[in-house]
Amino acid sequence: MRQVALITGCSSGIGYETALRLARNGFCTYAGVRNTKNSDALEKKIAKEKLDLNILQLDVNDKSSIENAVNQIKTEEKRIDVLINNAGYGLVGFFEELRLDEIRSQFETNFFGVLSVTKKVIPLMREQKSGTIINISSGAGQVGFPGISAYVSTKFAIEGFSESLMYELFPFGIRVIIIEPGVIKTNFFHNCIVSEKSSEKSLSYSNSLKKIQKNIELMQEHATPPVEVAKVILQALKTDEPKQRYVVGNDAAMILEAKKSLSDIEFKKMMMQNII
Ligand SMILES: NC(=O)c1ccc[n+]([C@@H]2O[C@H](COP(=O)([O-])OP(=O)(O)OC[C@H]3O[C@@H](n4cnc5c(N)ncnc54)[C@H](OP(=O)(O)O)[C@@H]3O)[C@@H](O)[C@H]2O)c1
Repeated sequence: MRQVALITGCSSGIGYETALRLARNGFCTYAGVRNTKNSDALEKKIAKEKLDLNILQLDVNDKSSIENAVNQIKTEEKRIDVLINNAGYGLVGFFEELRLDEIRSQFETNFFGVLSVTKKVIPLMREQKSGTIINISSGAGQVGFPGISAYVSTKFAIEGFSESLMYELFPFGIRVIIIEPGVIKTNFFHNCIVSEKSSEKSLSYSNSLKKIQKNIELMQEHATPPVEVAKVILQALKTDEPKQRYVVGNDAAMILEAKKSLSDIEFKKMMMQNII
């Protein structure tokens, strides 16, 4: 039987590439996009390649949008085998300059958005006694970085949530997998929201922020293409016993390995010398 997949945040980047990859590999794929006006590129590919790929309006911050999307798939396919929680954005700014409402919005999309979609899909997967939930975390799901503490916190939260959910859903035949990409060449950095106070440069962090932004630009030049994340996701879906975490990109692999093998003091020194 062909597998049915739902992916959030497919207008660009990792979600876009993953939707194409899955559809090209026999998955009946539903690509969630927040604004259907941003789905031209996907629509062209669907028409050209005659893909089994359906575009759905899906804003992970909007309860009725989630309900409509999941209900549509239930009606049309009666099942959801794969849920990929990918939608997200980055909030840039040093903590002192971040307003709590900016941080709450960041959590609303990157964390509560994941929870809301997952909550709606689990009952169906439990009924089926099968399913795979893939949560797109980040290398920043295990390592802190200055200037993006709110974003990092959402990804740490995703890691804790996913790891706990894995145990809860295992008895029902549902797998939970975490993907940890490094710097990926997508619209992500362009789409990052810079906190209002940081944009105004009203406090004393503007030089540090500039330095970090410059580092990110440099890292972007050698960034991993999003199709590499899509390939890893497909590979994980095809494996009988998938790993709990998949790291994508040499940068993420290097930093996560260092975090595992070095003491906290050594790791901090390495970060201060090389990254920050
Ligand atoms: N790029 C990286 O270096 C990197 C590294 C590690 C992890 N990640 C993670 O990978 C995921 C995908 O990011 P990307 O790199 O592919 O960036 P991207 O090209 O900016 O894609 C982000 C997607 O999320 C969507 N989105 C944002 N808010 C949404 C909402 N409320 N409801 C539904 N969709 C929403 C965007 O839709 P709109 O077009 O409507 O804005 C877009 O389709 C994110 O979770 C990100 O944290 C990225």
